Amino acid sequence: MIRKFTFGSPLSTDAVTVSTPVCTDSFPYFSLTKTSSFLYHMDDKTRIYGLGEAVRGINKRGWIYESFASDDCDHSENKRSLYGAHNFLIIDSEKDLFGVFFDYPARLTFDIGYTLSNQLLITPLDANLDIYFIESEDINDIVTQFRQLIGQSYIAPKWALGYGQSRWGYKNADDIRTVVRRHREEHLPLDSVYLDIDYMEKYKDFTVDENRFPDFSSFVEEMKQENIHLVPIIDAGIKIEKGYSIYEEGVHKNYFCKNEDGTDFTAAVWPGHVCFPDFLNPAARRWFGQKYNILLTQGIDGFWNDMNEPAIFYTPERLAATLQELGDYCGKNLGVNEFFELRDKIKDLSNSDVDYRSFYHNADGNILCHDKVHNLYGYNMTRSAFEAFEELLPEKRILIFSRSSYVGMHRYGGIWTGDNMSVWGHILLTVKMLPSLNMCGFLYIGADLGGFGENTTEDLLLRFLALGIFTPLMRNHSALGTREQEIYQFEKTDAFRRLLSIRYGLLPYLYSEYVKASLKGKMLFRPMRFVYPEDSRAAGIEDQLMLSDELMITPVYEQNAEGRYVYLPEKMRMIRMRSLTDYDTVLLSAGDHYIDIPLDTVVFFLRPNCIIPLSAGGENITEVSGISLKLLGYVTDTACYVYYDDNGYEKDYNNPAHYNTIRVDPTGNILVTGERTLDLTIASI
Ligand code: GLC
Repeated sequence: MIRKFTFGSPLSTDAVTVSTPVCTDSFPYFSLTKTSSFLYHMDDKTRIYGLGEAVRGINKRGWIYESFASDDCDHSENKRSLYGAHNFLIIDSEKDLFGVFFDYPARLTFDIGYTLSNQLLITPLDANLDIYFIESEDINDIVTQFRQLIGQSYIAPKWALGYGQSRWGYKNADDIRTVVRRHREEHLPLDSVYLDIDYMEKYKDFTVDENRFPDFSSFVEEMKQENIHLVPIIDAGIKIEKGYSIYEEGVHKNYFCKNEDGTDFTAAVWPGHVCFPDFLNPAARRWFGQKYNILLTQGIDGFWNDMNEPAIFYTPERLAATLQELGDYCGKNLGVNEFFELRDKIKDLSNSDVDYRSFYHNADGNILCHDKVHNLYGYNMTRSAFEAFEELLPEKRILIFSRSSYVGMHRYGGIWTGDNMSVWGHILLTVKMLPSLNMCGFLYIGADLGGFGENTTEDLLLRFLALGIFTPLMRNHSALGTREQEIYQFEKTDAFRRLLSIRYGLLPYLYSEYVKASLKGKMLFRPMRFVYPEDSRAAGIEDQLMLSDELMITPVYEQNAEGRYVYLPEKMRMIRMRSLTDYDTVLLSAGDHYIDIPLDTVVFFLRPNCIIPLSAGGENITEVSGISLKLLGYVTDTACYVYYDDNGYEKDYNNPAHYNTIRVDPTGNILVTGERTLDLTIASI
């Protein structure tokens, strides 16, 4: 059951797609404090799930979080917000079980037992918001009801589940050719290469630097011949430059965010001074979206949207004012405190609340100060792209994912988890974000594998990839100036090759589960508690995840670990894979086990009476058969698997021809129903 409550006059976010009447019941669970916060009393065992992209645990209790999309490359535990705003929580206690969504686009604070350990205090900037309560006895059903409320998750093209290589710093077409050649020479699977800002002319959106990429369309075609999709980045800011048509059109049509006096708001990001398209203005949104066609017509079929919190390095006015203030320090005998003050003045120029409070949107004639709608900016940038794709290429799926997001954006694209670092803790942080993001509707997700900032190591990249082989977006990305981290840069090429072979073997299963999860409002990654509600041990586990209905995954996230402890809530079959064809399977009883997991090995666990289809792999997605499959399972009685597959780019998901039901009994008899003829054999049951 879903109940909606409205306070004041909320701004429309379009997060919810099902119109829900306002409920007149008394406001449940929470009390309203004098300072307009919403207060819920947790008991000692209450667990809080949700908040999507955020630091710390799967259980969010014990910290204070803020929904305020932030460009912050330090994802350490003491941070309160990252790039997204995902205001959905599940409260799970002995007395209560419910979900709650605060549909509110400005800054929202979640004090989850931080100030007082048993107090959950949620504080909006002002009291204009919609709140939805979702109730059910089944925690999974709470998620599904919520997902039905906010609409079906974006489905990426199938090729976008292949392995992708990215790096900020590839300078020209030859650099990209080298990446592709090295992967192909070493038989390392690869489906996409990402183009970071360097492909553009002076970081101007929808331009291509002709010196670096002469005859771009032919280059895109050349890559297609190699079965490589090029995925360019698009940034939020439009460079201010006379003669740059997009800038000039934006000025002319009044499509940029404004200062209070009606002039165009200016900030500095990668291109230097920029204007920000007003994505909250439907006409501007449509205008910007149509610009993607400039690259689509050159053969591009995937994009990543960046810097769309929006990130602001500085504004020229405040920089000038600060420089003036700094002048006052000249000639003075500065003490340590003055020195720190001076240093902070420079630091405070970036992503400052003062700037976010100083510009305006025009949403259907409604002039809104940016800080009231901050969290909707990146969401609407990605919406502008998606809506244009629907109009321009209605039959085809285009890859699109974003750095910043709000609930609702999950209908238009995926996300990556931003600028993480090459540190071990960020493998575990990724594990914790995956189920939290799925609850909020984001299914096409992944982290920068190997780590974006700082220098990676071979073992870190191997362990990161061993988690990444399960995430829909599987991309290796790193920052300018860091150690090169394409997998061929390292010694253990064979180990990497074998690891990627497992991803490509799992692809039919992962794609099937990903599409079904989107269509049915289910999670791909679930906390153990969601699958084993009666098991109190399972509820506390934060470093193992359930993958769909069949698997449990247990990544290694510590350097030099040769294995790890794993808790099995029930008897399971362990699959220890060194490659797609080299693996052993062991039945393990419920309970605790120490599992050896060498660096070149991936371990996962099959639940009883479950089977998964495995392909014979391939070096890109076109080589992966969705027909000729081996079944890997743990069958004691009967296992039944609903297998989804399609051509990977059309959108007729509900066509029954895409579904087969595969039944296997313990003796290995296979019974298949469905229009499509599959060639199935048993690998191991
Ligand atoms: C931002 C993005 C990162 C990208 C860089 C340069 O930091 O998050 O992925 O490489 O900008 O465009």
